[in-house]
Amino acid sequence: MVAKSSISSPDHAFYKPADAFFPAHADIGLTYDDVTLATLYSEFLPRDTSLETTLSDGLHLRIPIISADMDTVTEAPMAIGMALAGGLGLIHCNLSEREQLSQVSRVKNNIHGLIEEPIKISPHQLIGDVLALVEQRGFGFRTFPVVDQNGTLLGLLPGHIVRPRHAAITVAEAMTPRDQVHCIHERELGDHPIARADRFFSEHIGIHKLLVVDNADRLRGLFTISDVERIMHERHAQLKPARDSNFRLVCGAALSTPRLPNGELDRDRILAHVSGLVERGVDVVAVSTAHGFSKGVGDTVRLIHDQFPLLPIIAGNVTSGDGVEFLAKCGAQIVKIGQGPGSICTTRIVAGVGIPQLTALYVASQAAKKAGVTLIADGGITKSGDIVKALTLSQAVICGGLLAGCPEAPGSLMEINGKLYKQYRGMGSLAAMQSGSAARYGHANKDLLRKVAAEGVEALKEVSPPLDLVLTQLAGGIQSGMGYLGAKDLDHLRKKARYIRVSHAGQRESAPHDIVEVKAAN
Ligand code: XMP
Repeated sequence: MVAKSSISSPDHAFYKPADAFFPAHADIGLTYDDVTLATLYSEFLPRDTSLETTLSDGLHLRIPIISADMDTVTEAPMAIGMALAGGLGLIHCNLSEREQLSQVSRVKNNIHGLIEEPIKISPHQLIGDVLALVEQRGFGFRTFPVVDQNGTLLGLLPGHIVRPRHAAITVAEAMTPRDQVHCIHERELGDHPIARADRFFSEHIGIHKLLVVDNADRLRGLFTISDVERIMHERHAQLKPARDSNFRLVCGAALSTPRLPNGELDRDRILAHVSGLVERGVDVVAVSTAHGFSKGVGDTVRLIHDQFPLLPIIAGNVTSGDGVEFLAKCGAQIVKIGQGPGSICTTRIVAGVGIPQLTALYVASQAAKKAGVTLIADGGITKSGDIVKALTLSQAVICGGLLAGCPEAPGSLMEINGKLYKQYRGMGSLAAMQSGSAARYGHANKDLLRKVAAEGVEALKEVSPPLDLVLTQLAGGIQSGMGYLGAKDLDHLRKKARYIRVSHAGQRESAPHDIVEVKAAN
């Protein structure tokens, strides 16, 4: 039986749906801690709720969490960890374009089922050439199938031979010849190729690669034991990976908006960069700036959308309905909301602008519904409860500070007074802008020599547990929230949410109080 609340119930007077609550508070900017959500009749246990979210056609995540495109948060290890847990990492762009492409390749080549386009080498190459390829493309593997110009399999170059001491010998001399390489015909794979490969590895002790060939002995694919084991293990994991239609991990990359000396957008460079990303299999690009409701961002989004109409584009940041509508018209399918809420941001202090997140999200969500775009709540998330509130008005959240202490974030550990920390800095801090992010804040690199007002700080985060543990906790918290609201998925969460403002005393009551805490909550 579904428990319905009667219209005369006092609940209606106090706990309001978004369309009643936010307009009633139109004279004040509200953020996460200013409100709380009312609980509702539920037929679902938290563990039975679904966290899946679709950001645009073909961009589907299993948890609605994205790691920020910041140089102290997301490079390949973070993006791999995010996708393995069902989320998405946006690789930052304070890197050379070549380095960013190589980071994207590392994510896209991470774990496959059947690798349909394995990197192949020719028998005439030197081991030194192979080493250079590994270095240049940042491959995390060194074993390569060897093929002739028709794609016919000639052998397998084992990884342990790819060493500088063997640089001068040819691949043909070093490879394991074809008749000793373990292969399977593609027709033998059947309906469950991973299960078939798993059986093969169980039956062939010590063999770590299985090549797939066709009738003409042309190479059609490659299985590795580590990928197959990981995938078999994933089936039982709590958080399941987010993959593209080719079974590769999803990955996003941020773009900057470079300009020519005459101030015009450097269109050729932007298109060459995006084309490289698309070639590497990127799933989404993010045109991330502090002020997305601007000509430069609009022109960049339009340029990319015209040339790559199927590539999803995240654009931002904005905090107004007009900003959402503008970016949607330019071709963005996903819009980032947030100006100044971030833990390392000083935009509101420096520039006196920005809107508290929940009000910004509500206003943006009205325009997003009309424009048919999805929203990401970016910045200011400090706990899973904030994510639940953000998801009542958006399709996903971006986290920076919450993830910057994880081992997967870039940067080394530092010890201060016996505690371990990692660096976390705003992309608008002077140091980050000097490393490349000046355009994101509307500055030219040459201006950095003069005094520009930084809009972010350099900080430290205490180290946190590995990413999968942090994400498991966050996902569990979101599911608890959904259980309390009787929402079986995120769509229902958005429809069912009822809000009420919280007083200062109410906020104090919300956290542990009047106790001596012996073990901090996660
Ligand atoms: P959290 O709160 O998760 O915020 O640490 C991460 C988000 O903050 C934004 N960001 C900045 N905003 N100045 C700003 O005003 C900065 O220097 C800065 N750096 C990052 C960004 O949207 C990120 O996702």
